[in-house]
Amino acid sequence: MKDQFGRQIRYLRISVTDRCNLRCTYCMPEEGLPWIPKAEMLNYEEIAEIVRQMADMGLERVRITGGEPLIRHDLPRLVEMIAAVDGIDDISLSTNAILLPRFAGRLRDAGLQRVNVSLDTLDKDAFVKIARRPARRFEETLIGLRAAEDAGFSPIKINCVLMRGLNDNEVPAFAQMTRRRPWHVRFIELMPVGENLHLTDRYVSTDEALERINGVGGLEPDPGPLGNGPAVYYRFPGGRGTVGVITPMSHNYCDRCNRMRLTADGRLRTCLFGDHEVDLKGPLRESGTIEAAVLEALAGKPKQHYLQIGSASGSGGLAALSQVGG
Ligand code: 5AD
Ligand code: SF4
Repeated sequence: MKDQFGRQIRYLRISVTDRCNLRCTYCMPEEGLPWIPKAEMLNYEEIAEIVRQMADMGLERVRITGGEPLIRHDLPRLVEMIAAVDGIDDISLSTNAILLPRFAGRLRDAGLQRVNVSLDTLDKDAFVKIARRPARRFEETLIGLRAAEDAGFSPIKINCVLMRGLNDNEVPAFAQMTRRRPWHVRFIELMPVGENLHLTDRYVSTDEALERINGVGGLEPDPGPLGNGPAVYYRFPGGRGTVGVITPMSHNYCDRCNRMRLTADGRLRTCLFGDHEVDLKGPLRESGTIEAAVLEALAGKPKQHYLQIGSASGSGGLAALSQVGG
């Protein structure tokens, strides 16, 4: 699968639900959103069929996202179905970890290889402010992180969205953690969408975050863990984990984009942002084949995103990233 700019697309992010048990302030409004009706969601057989047909076209890697994917019923079953598809050699999951104690073992048995955990703070009070859910959810997140480790997932990546006055003071502490733990902490620049413009003043660039860490001393460039993404990595000499930065705002990496996204109701999006998408559910249910729709989507993949700090205009009318899988 190649797009009109010659980019090879081998990676699909599948959102299995737009709902979540947290309300991270950058991701979703506190009162939630108009959820996709259950009747409009793809079932697991349909998702697996889409993966199968796209694998025939060159798809190699799949990530399961949300909302929070683990609140969808019996997710290990979907993992097992995707793992059985010829040509798919890497399956990963993005989660807030809260439900990992319940599912980690079964996910691993089903063929899941690695997890990304969203963790924006190491402080209970900051968690309550950012995730807008009770403090016990913070404890559960940490227990879930341990469950991921115990289940043998590797590498474990931690996603931390930078926000001034909410967690930017924790950058050195997050980085220090990677000296002793085999975790890959990635600092992510806040991306503006319709529902999070109230956070505009909180934007922090990853350059600023790295400057703060270099005050702590000694990061060196590192190839980082295996992955599909745009993160750039560093390591403390002798550190077990790494520190990564993801720079959608300050250093656009669209020229290296290798991915597409599938929404929970079966729309294929070739970019997180913009108002282009191609419906796969209709063709799948009507004719059983999605190839033409996928080719149409590829042909329309935009060159880059046009996000601007402080404006939702570049997001293409997107209200929240929870709707498209982050
Ligand atoms: N800006 C940056 N990252 C975001 N995520 C969600 N919303 C945003 C945003 N507005 C990312 C976070 C989270 C993952 C699920 O999606 O990294 O961990
Ligand atoms: Fe839920 Fe993840 Fe969005 Fe937080 S960032 S609200 S955990 S989907």
